[in-house]
Amino acid sequence: MIGNNLSITSKKFEIFSGTGGVGKTTLATSRAIDLANQGMRVLLITIAPAKRLKELMGLNDSQAGEVITLNNPFQTDQDYSIDVQLMNPQKTFERIAIGSKCPEVLDNRILEILTRPYGGLNEILALVELNMQSQSGHYDTIVLDTPPGSHFLDFLDSAQRINVFFDQSFIDIFNVVGKKLDTSSLNFGKRIFNKIVSSGVKKLLGYLNKVTGEKFVEEFIDAIVAIYKTKSSFLDALNLEKRLKNQKEANWYLVTSVEQSKVKEALELLQQTEGVMSEHSYVIINKCLEETLDSWEISSESKLSNLKETLIQKEKTIKHQLKPHFQAVLEFPEIISLSPVDHINELVLNWKKI
Ligand SMILES: Nc1ncnc2c1ncn2[C@@H]1O[C@H](COP(=O)(O)OP(=O)(O)O)[C@@H](O)[C@H]1O
Ligand SMILES: [Mg+2]
Repeated sequence: MIGNNLSITSKKFEIFSGTGGVGKTTLATSRAIDLANQGMRVLLITIAPAKRLKELMGLNDSQAGEVITLNNPFQTDQDYSIDVQLMNPQKTFERIAIGSKCPEVLDNRILEILTRPYGGLNEILALVELNMQSQSGHYDTIVLDTPPGSHFLDFLDSAQRINVFFDQSFIDIFNVVGKKLDTSSLNFGKRIFNKIVSSGVKKLLGYLNKVTGEKFVEEFIDAIVAIYKTKSSFLDALNLEKRLKNQKEANWYLVTSVEQSKVKEALELLQQTEGVMSEHSYVIINKCLEETLDSWEISSESKLSNLKETLIQKEKTIKHQLKPHFQAVLEFPEIISLSPVDHINELVLNWKKI
């Protein structure tokens, strides 16, 4: 294994990214169990729609968004417990609203749509949730399983996007009137809103009023006011972004598998998200066959010998292709079993070997 004897010190955040189907959820779960086995207090959060994880852990839909404590979920010899949370943006928003003492915002239909999965506020709410869990002080480490592709990483790379919701002029105004607004009624918020929105926006709203009926515009304004009333949770999440990019606080793992197409996707992802994953990140090559192939005893005359050599060569090429871009290349073997529970248990052992 490249990176032999390289002990990976766990950090406050352990983040798994990569394209679809390469093993992010499986590896994140195995890392979380590995750390829990070492006696750490671990929370495993998955932002991805992790149907498989849900099935594996025996969780049902009504538990989405909640932190669930599981004791030795895969019945291994080791006794440990682990907290698991399937991210649910609406549940996160609910907590923010209640925490900000404005539960009335939960009735807003526009916010209801925006906070649905894929509703547009997913990434920011994921950051907010992560921030809240980190600040709870309950955990030594939080393992994060991100959705496939670069969406979450792009988002993280651009704190400015949070300012899409909190345009600088709004932030300034709310810094001044924030206190008052927090304790005031929605009507007060609306008055402020009316004062600060540009006349162009007002015109647009006036037009929408005509075509959609007054209810929509009312709710739209309520939604904006509600987001401002809960702004501190969102703005707090900006600080988290810095922590996630700090190598003292976070380990990043870019997961790929031993296929040229997946490696190409991984390198593209790395390029797209420059600034998030640094040269301190690790790359995981999952489903490696070299160890298994090495144990094959095949006579050099056999055609299988050719196959063995070709596959080994293919893996070596991939490793050398990835090596220059990362702190270390971590190899995880293909587990020869059809059971995802076996995959996880075996991969837990591999973490201990690294
Ligand atoms: N090292 C491995 N060996 C064998 N199967 C694996 C390995 N890693 C993951 N798998 C299996 O591959 C499938 C996809 O893994 P998953 O973790 O859901 O990928 P992702 O989260 O990246 O979409 C699952 O069935 C999982 O059990
Ligand atoms: Mg997954």
